[in-house]
Amino acid sequence: MVSRSVIVETVGLKKTYNSGTDKAVEVLHGVDMIAYSGEFIAIIGQSGSGKSTLLNILGALDKPTEGSASIDGVEIGSLDALGLAKLRGQKIGFVFQFHHLLEEFTCLENVLMPVSIQKGAPEKDDTSYAKLLLTRVGLETQLNKRANQMSGGQQQRTAIVRALCNKPKLVLADEPTGNLDSRSGAEVFALMREIARELGVTFLMVTHDDRLAAAADRILRIEDGYLTEVTNE
Ligand SMILES: Nc1ncnc2c1ncn2[C@@H]1O[C@H](COP(=O)(O)OP(=O)(O)OP(=O)(O)O)[C@@H](O)[C@H]1O
Ligand SMILES: [Mg+2]
Repeated sequence: MVSRSVIVETVGLKKTYNSGTDKAVEVLHGVDMIAYSGEFIAIIGQSGSGKSTLLNILGALDKPTEGSASIDGVEIGSLDALGLAKLRGQKIGFVFQFHHLLEEFTCLENVLMPVSIQKGAPEKDDTSYAKLLLTRVGLETQLNKRANQMSGGQQQRTAIVRALCNKPKLVLADEPTGNLDSRSGAEVFALMREIARELGVTFLMVTHDDRLAAAADRILRIEDGYLTEVTNE
């Protein structure tokens, strides 16, 4: 059996906004979670329950107030701004509800943007990997299309490839299908599901769609500041 490595681990993770002021609000009261390589995990919970807060911390965009969070063995709380940026660049990919593609750039240029920012310019291998992934998601004929000339589903598939281009261990997706009609949403979801398995990448996906969540390997729910595993009956 192939041993699975731990990609995400949090212990007693707490997050308080406006800590130390009279407006302090503790949003996460102590989250313990573990995610292994290649797992596709759905995160559900009511609006305002702290889903994006958790994803921001796991994405090294924010730090826990208390407790620990590590990504592929790297403890987030121990890093300075440069270290956080390096961790994001090397190990994490992001997909958001709104794709944030640069409209004036082509599909391929958008996909290579993070790599270009990191390295100055993409190398030959980066471009061929990007083209391989774009072909995998059915966008091989769209490489030179400007982002604003593609459909919503095509744009979101471009954003998924952009998140995968630096070969991350972890992809964090905050309602990636929230802005799509149900059919393209289901297609984009299925694609992420397959790619997670093929590439062995861990996906954490926030969704409000219970049917999509039901197709994940595991479902985690945030409620009252705690995270619990939802068991499929
Ligand atoms: N930067 C911030 N400063 C202060 N409070 C914040 C900040 N970001 C989020 N909050 C508060 O933390 C709580 C959790 O917010 P969060 O965005 O994590 O919820 P969510 O589960 O992602 O909700 P939604 O489903 O609506 O996206 C909310 O009460 C929100 O008002
Ligand atoms: Mg949110």
